[in-house]
Amino acid sequence: MTHRVAIIGGDGIGPEVTAEALKVIHAAGVDLETTDFDLGGQRYLRDGVVLTDEILAELRSYDAILLGAVGTPDVPPGIIERGLLLRMRFELDLYINQRPFSGTAPGGTVAHEFVVIRENTEGPYVGEGGALRRGTLHEVATQGSVNTRMGVERCIRYAFELAAKGTRKHVTLVHKTNVLTFAGDLWQRTFDIVAADYPEIGTAYNHVDAACIYFVQDPHRYDVIVTDNLFGDILTDLGGAVSGGIGLASSANLNPARTGPSMFEPSHGSAPDIAGTGTANPTAAILSAALMLDFLGETEAADRVRAACADPVTGGTTQIGDAIAARLAG
Ligand code: IPM
Ligand code: MN
Repeated sequence: MTHRVAIIGGDGIGPEVTAEALKVIHAAGVDLETTDFDLGGQRYLRDGVVLTDEILAELRSYDAILLGAVGTPDVPPGIIERGLLLRMRFELDLYINQRPFSGTAPGGTVAHEFVVIRENTEGPYVGEGGALRRGTLHEVATQGSVNTRMGVERCIRYAFELAAKGTRKHVTLVHKTNVLTFAGDLWQRTFDIVAADYPEIGTAYNHVDAACIYFVQDPHRYDVIVTDNLFGDILTDLGGAVSGGIGLASSANLNPARTGPSMFEPSHGSAPDIAGTGTANPTAAILSAALMLDFLGETEAADRVRAACADPVTGGTTQIGDAIAARLAG
């Protein structure tokens, strides 16, 4: 079966790492029919297009979207992030951001797998708030965090379903319930209600600041972590840093209801400082492509891609891609 995949290489190292991901998928023997979409900061600088309704409608017709990285220093912050990346997450209802990690505790030798399930359509990301008297000494800025019972519950339920499929069967809620008492209360109560449906799954709660310490000192305590959009953003960068670096950190923006395509992208950005040098590590993009293969039902190929990435490869972008592709061919 041929899968139709929309490719958004994007900016900076995005197209470079995406090319290696496609090379590896091909080596794994999976047939993709791909279409390139020219989107990102460079496109915006050229003709002012971030994402039109027409392009979004076209993207909806694909089985999946594979994205490299978007953003360029010449465009003010927020335009591409909000107008392209967040708009796709919101409008395609990609309400789960799944980010797996392989962590090794200090002094430890055996890597340990854990996964962060980040709510991906709510929280402070929705853009609620505004500014008054901007540029004056009396300037006021507010930025609200939106948390709906429906949005929180479907995210938590996804985390429990994922834990139920695994062997360790444990879910940790991460929040800041001692300070964010309104949102925290909704998350904690909803977590407890969902947990009651999964008596075989162990649960824990960590404040987000404490979770930062555990990520570094004791990641072994984690199996599935569920958290809100902003905490999840921050925590998954830390997760990348403590498990081999952000060059290995993969991510899946999922619409589990499959009412449209899901989107797969490395957690890292466009790294304009190293773009064009051929030194970006494509492994995060390759592992994100493996998550895409999982979602497309190509689980056997996805497992082979992950196995091919297990032993670290050194070298430049294409050398790493070639070496991983060669392991699949051989
Ligand atoms: C990520 C990124 C995005 C986010 C930015 C680019 C909007 O940091 O995918 O983690 O904050 O979600
Ligand atoms: Mn981030």
